Amino acid sequence: KMFVDELQDMPRIKGYDVINGVHVPKSLKIGMYKKKWKFHRDLPASEVFAYGTSRHTATVPGPTIEAIYGVDSYITWRNHLPSKHILPWDPSIPIATTTFKKGIPTVVHLHGGIDEPQSDGHSEAWFTKHFKHHGPKWTTKTYHYHNYQHPGTMWYHDHAMGLTRVNILAGLMGAYVIQQPNVEGPLGLIYGEEYDRPLVVFDRGFRSDGSIYMNSTGNNPSIHPQWQPEYFGDAIIVNGKAWPYMNVKRRKYRFRIINASNARFFKFVFTNNMSFIHVASDSAYHETNDAVYPYPSGDPVNEENSKVMKFIINSDHEVQTGHIPHKLITYRPPDISTASNTRYIAFYEYASDIDEPTHLYINGKSYEAPVTEMPKVGTSEIWNIINLTEDNHPLHIHLGLFVVLEQIELVNIEEFKGCMMKLNDAIKCKIDKYSHGKRTKVVIHEKGWKNVYKMMPGYVTKIFVKFSLIHSNESYPFDATAEPGYVYHCHLPNSNSKPIECCCLSSPTYR
Ligand code: C2O
Repeated sequence: KMFVDELQDMPRIKGYDVINGVHVPKSLKIGMYKKKWKFHRDLPASEVFAYGTSRHTATVPGPTIEAIYGVDSYITWRNHLPSKHILPWDPSIPIATTTFKKGIPTVVHLHGGIDEPQSDGHSEAWFTKHFKHHGPKWTTKTYHYHNYQHPGTMWYHDHAMGLTRVNILAGLMGAYVIQQPNVEGPLGLIYGEEYDRPLVVFDRGFRSDGSIYMNSTGNNPSIHPQWQPEYFGDAIIVNGKAWPYMNVKRRKYRFRIINASNARFFKFVFTNNMSFIHVASDSAYHETNDAVYPYPSGDPVNEENSKVMKFIINSDHEVQTGHIPHKLITYRPPDISTASNTRYIAFYEYASDIDEPTHLYINGKSYEAPVTEMPKVGTSEIWNIINLTEDNHPLHIHLGLFVVLEQIELVNIEEFKGCMMKLNDAIKCKIDKYSHGKRTKVVIHEKGWKNVYKMMPGYVTKIFVKFSLIHSNESYPFDATAEPGYVYHCHLPNSNSKPIECCCLSSPTYR
């Protein structure tokens, strides 16, 4: 039955202390625990992996971490997980075989965060219980978050090589908000209290005993025992409850909506056609507020997964608080003339004789290949992302933010693809000859600074990437050039699993 559990607000943890009215840095310890979690009144409790300050307080999603602009938060992420995973674990991935029975590799990435590589949650910086075993890129137990970036909504999630998908399906994700009171306060937006609510949304399937369902058999087991590139479930979970309801007052609310699904895209609408105003995306505000929903939508897939949650408006009396300013925050606009480099980044699949793609590479390179992109801190670049696969791949860049400039369909794509398969070089293959088909429009709510954008199949998407702060002239408050570098990858939204799997950390890294 839908709408029987009340929406929860996840525990909020402050990433700062206040001493004599001044915000000062804070150190936190957040653990990962196996526990039971009730997703729905009528479903037996499910085994999950949950983040929290203790097993008892751990939740799915994890606590919302509230940080203050420019005030450092130090987090020691601790792995208290047992040696056996609650979900099927891809047996073909090297880390699975080497760490089997020695613990579950985990590592936390703050998605959208601008921090040194040692604190970025590199997929190979994973560690097991009590830091007993760790991956080749592991350097430190405590991550340093500078919070020295534009205010906005981010999320933290597991990022371990080969296990990201299952660890997130098991529950390892949560919201992270950077607040900048002196900049956001004057905007008059609802902010930081009861009416400013993160909504972490994902889909899951369950067995009748409550356990989270994940198929452990591949689409084509003869080429891969567990390869099922995408995960879809019919139950839509918001803040850890399936199709919850929320009692609201007749007033403005601010929702910070995070799609933490593996592969499901959402177009959110109110069924009574009420509109809402989109004020921000990825980790940055929009400059203006004119992107009104409902968004043009297709047919819902089915009765279950087309519903998300229910709002019950409790009073007739409208409380007038909070307004939406015409101007939000103005960042430095992208100045294309400052781009110091142009890169061509092509995705394509190498199919086996059976009709299943076997490798998804970037510019013909696997994840294990040496670093390929070496932009300089403080510079900007143009990246042309060429998607020769059949799927939409949301590209995610760590450390940099970008603005989408244009998205153009490729003509004679098979010919171009044929050349790319041989040469792995878009310039030699004369990309310009092929990039003059239809243009898609960058919708207004995706026009700002972003860290993920949907790369349409058969299109070349041109983005302006900035490797410096977008809200000021200053450079990063740390040395971003140190090892081990950053990854850029597909984020469908989360299945960054093994290179052999679709939408994975198949990309080489950059420094
Ligand atoms: Cu949200 Cu590298 O990931």
